[in-house]
Amino acid sequence: MESPNLEIKQRASELRSLLQKASYAYYVLDNPIMEDAVYDSLYRELQQLETQYPELASLDSPTARVGEKPATGFKSVQHRIPLYSLENAFNIEELQNWEKRTQRQTPSIKVAEYVCELKIDGSALALSYENGILVRGVTRGDGVTGEDITQNVRTIRSIPLKLELENCPPLVEVRGEAFLPLDVFQQINQERLTVGEQLFANPRNAAAGTLRQLNPKIVAKRKLDFFAYTLHIPGQDDTSIARTQWEALELLQKMGFKVNPNRTLSPTSQEVAEYYQRWDTERLNLPYMTDGVVVKLNSFSLQEQLGFTQKFPRWAIALKYAAEEAPTRVENIVINVGRTGALTPLAHMRPVQLAGTTVSRATLHNADRLKELDIRIGDTVIVRKAGEIIPEVLRVLRELRPPDTQAFEMPLNCPVCHQKVVRTLGEAVTRCVNASCPAILKGAIEHWVSRDALDINGMGEKLGYQLVERGLVHSVADLYELTTQKLQTLERMGNKLAEKLIDAIALSKTKPWSRVLYGLGIRHVGSVNAQTLTQQFPSIEQLSQAEIHDIAAVYGIGAEIAGSVHQWFRIPANQTLISRLQNLGLQLEAEVKETPITPLTGKTFVITGTLPTLKREEVKELIEKTGAKVTDSVSKKTDYLVVGAEAGSKLTKAQKLGITCLEESQLLELLNQ
Ligand code: IVH
Repeated sequence: MESPNLEIKQRASELRSLLQKASYAYYVLDNPIMEDAVYDSLYRELQQLETQYPELASLDSPTARVGEKPATGFKSVQHRIPLYSLENAFNIEELQNWEKRTQRQTPSIKVAEYVCELKIDGSALALSYENGILVRGVTRGDGVTGEDITQNVRTIRSIPLKLELENCPPLVEVRGEAFLPLDVFQQINQERLTVGEQLFANPRNAAAGTLRQLNPKIVAKRKLDFFAYTLHIPGQDDTSIARTQWEALELLQKMGFKVNPNRTLSPTSQEVAEYYQRWDTERLNLPYMTDGVVVKLNSFSLQEQLGFTQKFPRWAIALKYAAEEAPTRVENIVINVGRTGALTPLAHMRPVQLAGTTVSRATLHNADRLKELDIRIGDTVIVRKAGEIIPEVLRVLRELRPPDTQAFEMPLNCPVCHQKVVRTLGEAVTRCVNASCPAILKGAIEHWVSRDALDINGMGEKLGYQLVERGLVHSVADLYELTTQKLQTLERMGNKLAEKLIDAIALSKTKPWSRVLYGLGIRHVGSVNAQTLTQQFPSIEQLSQAEIHDIAAVYGIGAEIAGSVHQWFRIPANQTLISRLQNLGLQLEAEVKETPITPLTGKTFVITGTLPTLKREEVKELIEKTGAKVTDSVSKKTDYLVVGAEAGSKLTKAQKLGITCLEESQLLELLNQ
């Protein structure tokens, strides 16, 4: 294995520190200092150096954030210091009672100072740094033991891999809240909706679910963020580096963490109350969810005097906001059939005001949830809606149940096509599996024409429904056999509009293979997975014939997706659909980039040593443009060896075999010809 020389070591270290700074500016300060393209190119350079010289790789390198293999499970680990939870107060009076209690316990508290922080609605994490380097990230768990999710924690860009701290103690523990920004949360649920997966009820569940994802690549894509709020120096007095919570927060910020800027230092509970009230309205403008404020005594020595109860610190309290919940009556329970055939029970309720909107529908999720709630028409229920989240029924107030109600159960037949429904063992979802069920068909068309799929302009939801209801379309392939005459049999459809639609449908035939794959609406295949799959399987032929393990072997795909794709291609109706789409001229394979035939086409090159001006990747690209290929080792099949400084055994071997050797300038000359 080659050893890097001093110059290379220096370059790697410079790159690492520059990328570190750029990433901090981008993810923590939200104030980029570098163009994305520049970052990418420096990142690639560092990555290449680390691949070439493995000894350069290190745990705190920006390249060490993602890339490891999926985990098979998480190890349970005990927290060095337990993660306590907080006592709750729901109004100012309860806050004042807490204040009085603390004052009684420690008379010296009379001139207390409080730090007010926002209570971020996410998932608590404990991070351990050894000699300033992030070595472990653990979930809260039950507060005593959590799960080691270090691989996933590394993907959170606002968590520094290395602390910026002079004379760093050997061990530093930082706690804080991992959360999903609201826009990311909505985007994830939107994607889950399109691929027929169960939605996350709120950003907190989505964050917790993401942190426990086995595949760190998926975690990285989900864009988790993190606010730090606690600093501990195990084995030492915490006051050795900060004397107050306020100082600790400032130090955390200096160390490179994102610390929530909306904090205050309040000398009286009156000011705490003002902070709480102010943020009850202002929190609606924040890009993340908060569910209250946390009030902490500022002085660490006072904190120590007060200590902990079994569960809570006595020196802090969470002042929560009234939940966005309200009681209402269930007027009806109906079953909705989605694009994937999933049957979702919905409660239709007497309209109620929640979180500033009127709510009259709530999801009851699935058969298990129905059973658990034992919800009946006529029941009084508590519904919850937070932010943009689909309202849900939290619980039934049994005491208020009128006499003569009947238990509600999932139907045995699809309410739309009346065929028998199926519930696979171990799955929560009940499904209609009749491919020609109008509900499935309408959903399939809506998905096929959508923007990220075949993007058929002018073909809205209503039109799709009409086409199905009139019997003009029985599959997405039928769209391509529509004529202006057929379309004109629909309401309000003139000749001009019909022609426009036919053109838009025809244009969709030029959409690439990845869009078609996404458009097919295979379960778990969202647009990102569709792109990943089409890169590995450049034609539908290859994908349809691939075995489960071939598909699962694609990085980022995994067994569940692979199983779903494999099964889809085994269904005869789907095979018929594919062959129709093929005959209709849709793009079912990736466009092959034509490489021109040159005198070098088919020749084999090997590169050795460091070239004076070009990087290895650049040389490779130039050579490959001519249709020649670049391989790693010299053999009889090698046509040319490109030689740079410090060439080693490859050169000797090439000379023995009589292979033409080229210096950089000679290579460029040859390529120019
Ligand atoms: S301090 C011993 N500060 O709220 C002190 N917690 O309901 C413990 N949380 O488990 C936590 N924002 O996950 C603290 N600014 C903040 C917080 C915060 C959110 C969470 C944390 C805790 C839960 C308690």
